[in-house]
Parts: sequence; structure tokens; C-alpha cells
Amino acid sequence: MIKRALSGITPSGSNLHIGNYFGAVKQQIELQNSIDQTLYFVADLHALTTVHDKEQLQNNIRNVVLDYLALGVDPEKSIFFRQSDVPQHCELSVILANYISFSHMQRMHAYKDKLANDSEADINMGLFNYPILMAADILLYQPDGVPVGEDQKQHVELTRDIAQNFNKRYGSEILKLPEPLISKTLGKIIGTDGVRKMSKSLGNVIGIFDSEEIIRKQIFSCFTDPNRIKATDPGKVEGNPVFIFHDLLNQNQEEVDDLKARYIKGSVGDVEVKEKLLKAHLTYFQPFREKRKELEKNNKLLENILRQGAQRAQNLASETLNKVEEAIGLTKVFN
Ligand code: ADP
Ligand code: TRP
Repeated sequence: MIKRALSGITPSGSNLHIGNYFGAVKQQIELQNSIDQTLYFVADLHALTTVHDKEQLQNNIRNVVLDYLALGVDPEKSIFFRQSDVPQHCELSVILANYISFSHMQRMHAYKDKLANDSEADINMGLFNYPILMAADILLYQPDGVPVGEDQKQHVELTRDIAQNFNKRYGSEILKLPEPLISKTLGKIIGTDGVRKMSKSLGNVIGIFDSEEIIRKQIFSCFTDPNRIKATDPGKVEGNPVFIFHDLLNQNQEEVDDLKARYIKGSVGDVEVKEKLLKAHLTYFQPFREKRKELEKNNKLLENILRQGAQRAQNLASETLNKVEEAIGLTKVFN
């Protein structure tokens, strides 16, 4: 039985997209409402691997805070905070780096993917060390589960490896091994290109809070059945991104069934399918969009939420850090 869950989102770019929502955030909100304790945070230190512009970073952080709150993170139920407000993340990260090998770190996907396109000289150490900081983010709070999308699985596995190495040396009860909580069906939402996972860095996203105009463009750029040339050609529904998105967003099941049946027969055009997808999107996210607009006006409230979250997170984090320091010999008193 899972009692405590923790997850974070890196404010490295634009607003959240529907891949983030269905792959991770929706599950996080469900857990918030069903288990003892949930902790969610904005992983702003992680954003430094790519964002080196002060204003952009501050904007990104504010956007993720607003997105998260609008999508349902409730600071009364979850501990909601900003990573950089809790210095214990950095402290534990420096310690944990000593319990994992360089060659293990070289096998991490994020680093390997970057290395496939860039030279080593263009990869900063923040990116290389990123999974160790993520392990510290997790282990500080001793969660049973980490709700994330599939792309984060390797990071949670590394976290377990680090904790295991540490516990083997200092005692099995010190760091709790977390489980990745990844939806089998929604852990990897496809992008509008119909090929790769939806990701802000690939530019194949459908936003949640962008303007209607942008969302329209994103939906209309969406790939469909590549073998279907004319609206009268019979089409394939399975694996077709527009229908994957209809299944996620369209609450009018009759309409979805009708569109699919006509698509298979070749009696509906892409434009109608996409217009209806846009309508379904706007209906689905309308309450969240309204809530975000309200929150945007209230900077004081955001500050208070983050201040209170940081306090609560620090209390938990310092407990673990003290335990770790005590175990390894970084005791603060001589005796
Ligand atoms: P992006 O890849 O767009 O930069 P992030 O890395 O910020 O997204 O991911 C935030 C959360 O959303 C993570 O838990 C991640 O696993 C999840 N996530 C991101 N993209 C997808 C996707 N296409 N399908 C499912 N989950 C996703
Ligand atoms: N790496 C995650 C992402 O890119 C964000 C993250 C940072 C995270 N620290 C975490 C997720 C700890 C879960 C737990 O989406």
C-alpha cells in the first residue's frame, strides 16, 4: 500500500502539455486525493541545465507553479514547494554522488541522448549530474512511490541503486527504496508527429493553457493516417494521434464512436475530426483555464503557498539529511 508519493516538474520551457497531464499530473492529483501524504514540487534547480536567462527562468517557474495549482494540486492536501527553497536537496545530492560510479552515470538516457547530438564540450556537468540531484529530491522525503511518465523510469531506478549502495554500507533502514508509479496505458503519450513521445523539446505538443489560436494550430498540425490522401479514402483509427487525443479529451463518447466509424469508411474529413478535437480540448480544460486566470491575479497567494510549502518540506528533508549525516560520520559534535 502506498502511503507517501512525491514528484516534481522541471520548469524548463513553455506551459505544461497534455502529455504531462495525462502521463503524470492527473495521476498525481488522484493520489493527492487518495493517499496519506503527497509532495509535489517545481524542480527549478534542474532547469539550470538548459535555462541561463534570469527572466526566462523566473517566468518558467511562475508558469509551472500556476499550471500545477490550476490543474488541481491543493496546498492544503499536498506539500507544494519550490526545490531551491529547500537547501537540503543540494546537500544530499553532493553526498549521494559518492555512492554511484561514473560509468553508471554515463549510461543515463538524458546524457546519452545529448551526447548523440552534441560533443562532450557542450554538455554541462549539471546535465550529467541531474539524475543524482533527482535521487536526492526523492530520497530526502522517503516516498513509497514516484508518479511520473515512462521517460523518468530510469531515473527512479538509479535512485534505487544509489539508495541500495548507501544502505549496504551504512544500514538497511536509512534510505527508503521508492517505486516508480507509471501508468501502463498513459505513461507515454505520443506527440502530434505521431512518432515520438510528446515533449516540449521536440515541438510536438498540444498545450493546455496556451491561447485558443495556438492550440488550434497544434491540433491542425497533428499527423493522422499517412496513407489516407482524400477524405473519401478509408482510414485507420488505431495508433492515429487524432483519435488517441479524442479518446483522452472528448467526453462525448457517441461523437467519438461516430467519427471513428466514418473515418474507417472514408466519410469524414480530417478538418471535421480536428475541429471536434479542438472543441473537446477547450471543454475538457475550461475549468482549469479559468482557475489559472484567477490565480494569475494573486501573486501574494502564490508566495504564501510556496512559503508554507517550503517550511513543511524543510522539516521533513532535514530529518533525513540529519540521519544520513549521522550515518556517514558528518556529526556536528565531537565526543
Ligand atoms: P517534457 O518531455 O515535455 O520536457 P517533462 O520532462 O517536463 O516533459 O515532464 C514532466 C512530467 O511529465 C514527467 O513526469 C514526465 O515523465 C511526464 N511526461 C512528459 N512527457 C510525457 C509524455 N509524452 N507522456 C507521458 N508522460 C510524459
Ligand atoms: N526529472 C523530472 C522531469 O524532467 C523532474 C523531476 C526532478 C522529478 N526531480 C524529481 C520527478 C523527483 C520526480 C521526482 O520531468
